[in-house]
Amino acid sequence: MLDITDLTVRYGKLTALDEVTISVAEGEAVFVVGPNGAGKSTLLKTLAGLLRPAAGQVAFQGRPINGGAPERLCRGGLALVPEGRHIFRTLTVQENLAVGMMIRRDKAAAKADLDRVMDLFPILRDRFGGIAGNLSGGEQQQLAIARALLQRPRLLMIDEPSLGLAPLVIDQVYASLKALNADGLTLLVVEQSTARVLDLATRVHVLRGGRVVLSDTAAALATGDAMEEAYFGYAGQADA
Ligand SMILES: Nc1ncnc2c1ncn2[C@@H]1O[C@H](COP(=O)(O)OP(=O)(O)OP(=O)(O)O)[C@@H](O)[C@H]1O
Ligand SMILES: [Mg+2]
Repeated sequence: MLDITDLTVRYGKLTALDEVTISVAEGEAVFVVGPNGAGKSTLLKTLAGLLRPAAGQVAFQGRPINGGAPERLCRGGLALVPEGRHIFRTLTVQENLAVGMMIRRDKAAAKADLDRVMDLFPILRDRFGGIAGNLSGGEQQQLAIARALLQRPRLLMIDEPSLGLAPLVIDQVYASLKALNADGLTLLVVEQSTARVLDLATRVHVLRGGRVVLSDTAAALATGDAMEEAYFGYAGQADA
């Protein structure tokens, strides 16, 4: 579904992503984990069309999307839940969700989807008319995911869903992501923490210093410390 090949992204002289190759098959939940500054957000922003790659290719559903405009990528089925959620704090929950529905031409189906996302996140129905800034961190994360789902993505990309949330809330967010993936939605998730990754991932890539230093199936990573070793750069790996 998504094929990223030798993707290089720079901020001026700084190389944030260095020849990154990752693919995501339909129905998968692919995770990219890595420490602070590894290039995780840069990767998702580039895929969403917010940054231009210096080199490499990205194909989505067989078509090259390098340098595509964000709205067009969004209509094409790529949705991003950005780091720190980026909800409109002074608007109501309803208004925030309406933003997700804006790109939809099929208004009747969009309304049905609104019901469905509120079944998935009942708190949003309870707080529908309330100001989004008054929601807790976990509720805001649910709102950000719901807003992205209303774009009816084929691939949902989420930047650090567990960031700043209490463990119980992370459990809830991960349970919803698991339900969405079980329902057929393809996920590409980046996380700084490796704690929950194996609960949901089908495949994991460890990113450090802009390079993929380990790629494996979640099943293979479930035993042993390979993921942690790659993350922290043990086992004699050269630092980037
Ligand atoms: N707008 C920018 N201008 C210049 N450098 C940037 C910019 N955004 C990110 N960087 C740098 O690019 C590198 C990768 O940053 P990125 O935000 O992608 O990392 P990350 O893995 O998402 O980190 P975190 O876990 O802290 O969110 C870092 O060295 C960062 O300082
Ligand atoms: Mg980031």
